[in-house]
Amino acid sequence: MAHRVLIIGGGSIGERHLRCFQKTGAADVSLCEINPELRTRLSETYSLSGCFGDLAEALAAKPDVAVVCTPAQLHITQSIACVEAGAHLLVEKPLSTKLEGIDELLRVVAERRRIAGIAYVLRCHPMLWGMRAAWQRGDFGRPLHVTVVSGQHFPLYRPAYRTIYYTKRATGGGAIQDALTHLVNAVEWIVGPATAVAADAQHLALEGVDVEDTVNMIARHGRVMATYSLNQHQAPNETSITIVGERGTTRYEADASRWLAAREPGAAWEVQDSCTLERDDLFVEQARRMLSAVAGTAPVTCTLEEGRQTLRVNLAVLEAADHRRWVDVGA
Ligand SMILES: NC(=O)c1ccc[n+]([C@@H]2O[C@H](COP(=O)([O-])OP(=O)(O)OC[C@H]3O[C@@H](n4cnc5c(N)ncnc54)[C@H](O)[C@@H]3O)[C@@H](O)[C@H]2O)c1
Repeated sequence: MAHRVLIIGGGSIGERHLRCFQKTGAADVSLCEINPELRTRLSETYSLSGCFGDLAEALAAKPDVAVVCTPAQLHITQSIACVEAGAHLLVEKPLSTKLEGIDELLRVVAERRRIAGIAYVLRCHPMLWGMRAAWQRGDFGRPLHVTVVSGQHFPLYRPAYRTIYYTKRATGGGAIQDALTHLVNAVEWIVGPATAVAADAQHLALEGVDVEDTVNMIARHGRVMATYSLNQHQAPNETSITIVGERGTTRYEADASRWLAAREPGAAWEVQDSCTLERDDLFVEQARRMLSAVAGTAPVTCTLEEGRQTLRVNLAVLEAADHRRWVDVGA
């Protein structure tokens, strides 16, 4: 039987989730969106099983799964309402802009025995998955040093950036909460949680906004040392994560959709695996995995606790950049 999936917020990522849950072939999708023009367009484009302007009304229809795709400052309140109404939960990143309310959300999720995951979609990338599996098997020994380099021309991919959540930190905007968070979460998934950070962040280039669009961050993930360099205005769209271990080095390249390894000192990179992906593919995979988690046949790809940990890192990076000092991430 199809899962009844409610998408909350039909903006850029909400529309993608809507389409990608439909592409699983295992979901009847409904929508809750406060903007009436958007509601009309989406209900004309997709065959929706319901379309609502109000969350309470949408939840009264008893969806099995709610996917929270609104700006980040709304995520916790809406998530609690969804779980209280009996829905399993997939929440877009970042989990929130603050830590308030998360204990309550965890409590409600446990009490109602619901499945809850955070949509850090890189965890569904088959190449990152493959590289992580190699580290987990111990192929390269203990990880020691991580270098993340990432950039893209954000206005090209998100022309509306001047009018959305991105414009303010309070709504989850700026490079740290919007983009860096994906990479921090991915690295935490492979080498463990970030424990301390120092950062330099600045608005350098994007017109019409004043949030940081460029960030350099150094971090400790326990004993592992890491450096992250990210901007949202360079010409090529590229991201790499290089991990140096005791017995070799690996690199994930998002743009080429592949991962590489070099096992001996002085050795050249060898491609370990590669694939071709359409833009929706990771999101369809994420939707499939969420539905499998709900069916009890697989774990969620990113737990609420892991989402909270990455949120703590976001907040620590903002503090480190603003006060120009090291900040412990804390627990
Ligand atoms: N995983 C990814 O790759 C990815 C990509 C883009 C955005 N995101 C995240 O997804 C979230 C949304 O981003 P977006 O780009 O879709 O933003 P957006 O501005 O395009 O869409 C947000 C939508 O939520 C609607 N909304 C606001 N309040 C609402 C409410 N109370 N009830 C119902 N709908 C409401 C707005 O009208 C809007 O249509 C953010 O947290 C963002 O960081 C994730």
